[in-house]
Amino acid sequence: MKILVIGGGAREHAICDAVICSKNAELYSVMKNLNPGIKNLTVDYLQEDETNVDKIISYAKEKNVDIVLVGPEAPLEIGIVNKLTNLGIKACAPTKEAARIETDKEWMRKLLKKYKIPGQLKFETFTDANKAKKFIEDLDCEVALKPIGLTGGKGVKVSGDHFNGIDEALEYVKDVIKNKVGGQSKILVEEKAVGEEFTLQAFSDGHTILPLHAVQDHKRLLPGDEGPNTGGMGSYSCNNGLLPFLSKSEYEEGASILQKIIEVLDKKGDPYIGPIYGQFMLTIDGPKIIEINARFGDPEAMNVLPLLETDFIEICKAMLDGELNKIKLKIRKKSTVCKYVVPRGYGIKSIVGKKVNVDEEKIMKTGSRLFYASVNKENDFVTTTSSRSLAVVGISDSLSNAENICEQALDYVKSDYIFIRHDIGTPKLIERRIQHMNNLRGM
Ligand code: AMP
Ligand code: GLY
Repeated sequence: MKILVIGGGAREHAICDAVICSKNAELYSVMKNLNPGIKNLTVDYLQEDETNVDKIISYAKEKNVDIVLVGPEAPLEIGIVNKLTNLGIKACAPTKEAARIETDKEWMRKLLKKYKIPGQLKFETFTDANKAKKFIEDLDCEVALKPIGLTGGKGVKVSGDHFNGIDEALEYVKDVIKNKVGGQSKILVEEKAVGEEFTLQAFSDGHTILPLHAVQDHKRLLPGDEGPNTGGMGSYSCNNGLLPFLSKSEYEEGASILQKIIEVLDKKGDPYIGPIYGQFMLTIDGPKIIEINARFGDPEAMNVLPLLETDFIEICKAMLDGELNKIKLKIRKKSTVCKYVVPRGYGIKSIVGKKVNVDEEKIMKTGSRLFYASVNKENDFVTTTSSRSLAVVGISDSLSNAENICEQALDYVKSDYIFIRHDIGTPKLIERRIQHMNNLRGM
């Protein structure tokens, strides 16, 4: 079976890895940057921008691919799935209409409100900073400010983390409106949810979801959750599918919210097929929805896909055929810790073109997985670009072992020009997360 994966990041490297573990899969790829890991796994690839739909479609037709998988959201937003489906090419990803759940934050919030989905936050959108003032003050300035367009997770500012008080809030509101941050002169102002974040990814066939292990991502650049938001610096998951601060019933609440969302989309005539991603804040009042994404998470895909025991392509076929209820999902009961290696200066001004030595064999021997992101391959080394370079995932029976293994593997990634958040998955940071939740709960 010929599978085409769109995207060239570490998330897509993990998707490609899951594809080639499947018995009869032959892998094709479209990627903008030549990912050396993906290149090694493919039968053939096209180096092309992931939003160049016409070129991608011609390639898919030329290669006669059976199923297309889409890593990033940008091609979904411009309707690549609609176009592929119209041509009779199966795509295991949401249509433009269903993907609005991610690509249009205002629409998503309104949908949740209309259908009374649990886990909502108060919100309003504004095109005039003066009108936003009262709403922000009414929420005691405890708000998240989100440009309406896509910003790769980097445009969101949260009170207490990125600004304080009404003046600083309005300064950002004005900046977004005046400079069209995210592409539009419009901002979403949302009630701030306080707690610990978790990600729940699931497969969806339009009617049923099959949820995967919960993951905690680390958006902030610096150790101790300081510095600006990034695309994600690393993530961890636990062998029992929960997180150290997340109970089974809270996990199930999150899963039930995702299930309700796909039911609503189905009812509206836009069934959601493909992986779906819920970003939740666990608060003392239960999980609140921070965002819903129409794809796997990056880095979170790297925590869940390597643990699949069930054939990934069989799952994709079941999603396409509306038969997920026939799949008995088997997931290895392992903990994972993923740490991204990024170029020095990442999040502010990356130092590009610098040499990184990666000893792939030694990394494998530690029991870790290596997923390349944005690097250029030279002879026996890679060089940095402005984006994240690669990720290493430690997999083991316990979280602390997984963290140790990940660190052992990172010793085999050598450069003077890289940066890693070494605190991700460490007992100290995990303890802080548990304490944070306990304090909020008054324990
Ligand atoms: P987003 O791009 O929507 O995922 O936002 C980036 C990050 O900002 C999230 O991962 C959260 O850490 C934080 N954030 C977004 N919205 C809220 C909110 N309403 N309350 C608290 N934190 C938020
Ligand atoms: N980890 C955040 C995202 O994939 O959007």
